[in-house]
Amino acid sequence: MMVAAWVLLALLALLAWPVPATAATVRDSLLNVCMDAKHHKTAPGPEGQLHGQCTPWKDNACCTANTSVQAHQDQSYLYNFNWDHCGIMPEKCKRHFIQDTCLYECSPNLGPWIKPADSSWRKERILHVPLCLEDCEEWWEDCQNAVTCKVNWHKGWNWTTGINQCPRGTSCQKFRYVFPTPADLCQQIWSHSYRYTAYRRGSGRCIQMWFNPSQGNPNVAVARYYAQANAAVAAAPAGSPLSHLLALLPPALLARL
Ligand SMILES: *[C@@H]1O[C@H](CO)[C@@H](O)[C@H](O)[C@H]1NC(C)=O
Ligand SMILES: *[C@@H]1O[C@H](CO)[C@@H](O)[C@H](O)[C@H]1NC(C)=O
Repeated sequence: MMVAAWVLLALLALLAWPVPATAATVRDSLLNVCMDAKHHKTAPGPEGQLHGQCTPWKDNACCTANTSVQAHQDQSYLYNFNWDHCGIMPEKCKRHFIQDTCLYECSPNLGPWIKPADSSWRKERILHVPLCLEDCEEWWEDCQNAVTCKVNWHKGWNWTTGINQCPRGTSCQKFRYVFPTPADLCQQIWSHSYRYTAYRRGSGRCIQMWFNPSQGNPNVAVARYYAQANAAVAAAPAGSPLSHLLALLPPALLARL
């Protein structure tokens, strides 16, 4: 296969180059970090009092106990966001939004996907976090009969009352019409914070929104894996044919070797 040959060539070339010391620094700065956003702590640490669905992160979290409580409340002080903008969101659907909030606020393993944010209320955001297949599919399954008026929930609301309302000209429809596929839901609802993947929970290649903390946090290894893939790209001497080649390859493909 053409691509596989390229990757092999790139890897051989990479091994022939001495890896600059900065590669390790680049990689480590992506691990065990909190984004610079509205409610995140400056650095992760233990939070013994985390609430409800956020408890899986209690050993090491970017959220405070208060934030974890608020993550479970409607129109919480976190963002004043109203899940029920087209009528009551069913509980089985809402729990996915709570879990999504817990991951976003609490996870110290999103470093490889933290990017500068173009907004007034936060300096950084996450972009293209590879979400595990089951997390995305179950979210969509449980929400297909919930109702909304917007595809992108980050932008375009009418906030004149202080709470997000459907803007004029939109109508309330079931999720399954607004988001025809699970990928549409996971990728579009938060302006591509998540990327839909075919990787399954436990694969070590995708971020889990839901996990059982008795076996530790599986996202630690996932972040390390993608940070290493990024570092391989960064380690190639700038301007070399290799760096151009590596830049063309998706990290997942690169790190599969
Ligand atoms: C947490 O919330 C309580 C009650 O709303 C408040 O009194 C307290 O100051 C908050 N703690 C922190 C650390 O923000
Ligand atoms: C926004 O909401 C207010 C209050 O409900 C309404 O008067 C106004 O027409 C709405 N504007 C738009 C652009 O939807």
